[in-house]
Amino acid sequence: MFDEEESLIVSTKTEYDEVENILRPKSMEGYVGQEKVKTNLSVFMTAAKMRGEALDHVLLYGPPGLGKTTLAHIIAAEMGVQIKVTSGPSIEKSGDLASILTNLNEGDVLFIDEIHRLNHNVEEILYPAMEDFSLDFIVGKGPMARSVQIPLKKFTLIGATTRAGMLSSPLRDRFGVICRLEMYSVDELAEIVRRSAATLGSTISDAATEEVAKRSRGTPRIANRLLKRVRDFSIVMEHDEISLADTKHALDRLEIDDLGLDNIDIKLLSSMIDKFGGGPVGLETLAATINEDKNTIEDVYEPYLLQLGFVSRSPRGRIAMPRAYEHLGRKIPQKIKDQISLFDEQ
Ligand SMILES: Nc1ncnc2c1ncn2[C@@H]1O[C@H](COP(=O)(O)OP(=O)(O)O)[C@@H](O)[C@H]1O
Ligand SMILES: [Mg+2]
Repeated sequence: MFDEEESLIVSTKTEYDEVENILRPKSMEGYVGQEKVKTNLSVFMTAAKMRGEALDHVLLYGPPGLGKTTLAHIIAAEMGVQIKVTSGPSIEKSGDLASILTNLNEGDVLFIDEIHRLNHNVEEILYPAMEDFSLDFIVGKGPMARSVQIPLKKFTLIGATTRAGMLSSPLRDRFGVICRLEMYSVDELAEIVRRSAATLGSTISDAATEEVAKRSRGTPRIANRLLKRVRDFSIVMEHDEISLADTKHALDRLEIDDLGLDNIDIKLLSSMIDKFGGGPVGLETLAATINEDKNTIEDVYEPYLLQLGFVSRSPRGRIAMPRAYEHLGRKIPQKIKDQISLFDEQ
């Protein structure tokens, strides 16, 4: 869909903008939250270093903006190796991947973003590369065909994906370490906002920090984006410190509500309630009704609505939950109340 104004929630190419790079923590210490993932990775990294080997292949998965790319860079930095960055859709031919692989040095990290979008022929090259550190080729045709193996240096593949379920199982099985990134708490996001403000040379009040954190949908990328916009408002008003009033004013102008929902979330929820009686309604139907991309809904909007308990998934489709009715100021239908009380009795 074409949007006149850049959405604050959906990733666009500004994802790779300079400010995002400046705000990216460079070490595990600066990487806020995800304690379980950090602890596990630190153990595996220390062990790999002690054995003098490359780190096992790592799969990072979770919704956009939770820190997968950032973490991949930190892993390479902590291992003291080079990182080569590419992405599933940008590797067109198996030869392209072969040349990337043969150019890696011992221990290097190859980061493949959106790894679920690798095409099948390319993916097949990865299997022996990951497992045996070798490239297997068939040279020639018919009776003259023979297989050729080219040894590779021992490297670490780090794959990132928004949906682990879309990875083929042979690929998934070849990752020794699989990490699921979780949404961040308000406290963690506040810490990120505080650090980012300091990096940008801005002063922000505690109340304003908290407000940005609360409206960031559990997502650091969104927290940083909101901070940048709030900061713009405050600069224009010639305030020395970003205040709570500035923050509320800016976020209201941007139509981000007090839970961080934007007009697409609201359209999604109200359409479920008004047009489909609260559901169950299939994702495709819903996407067509509000004229949004199905994958965007599933990857970007839905995870937070699920987290809030506004929506639940059933085999027959998505269902709007009582909290969604409350948030939109709607009366909860008797049908849903009955279902809930049935739940409570069990
Ligand atoms: N754990 C974290 N601590 C601090 N900042 C973070 C963290 N995770 C992500 N960020 C910030 O959010 C931005 C987006 O993170 P990124 O790694 O690009 O997400 P993903 O690759 O999962 O979409 C980064 O620029 C970084 O500033
Ligand atoms: Mg990324």
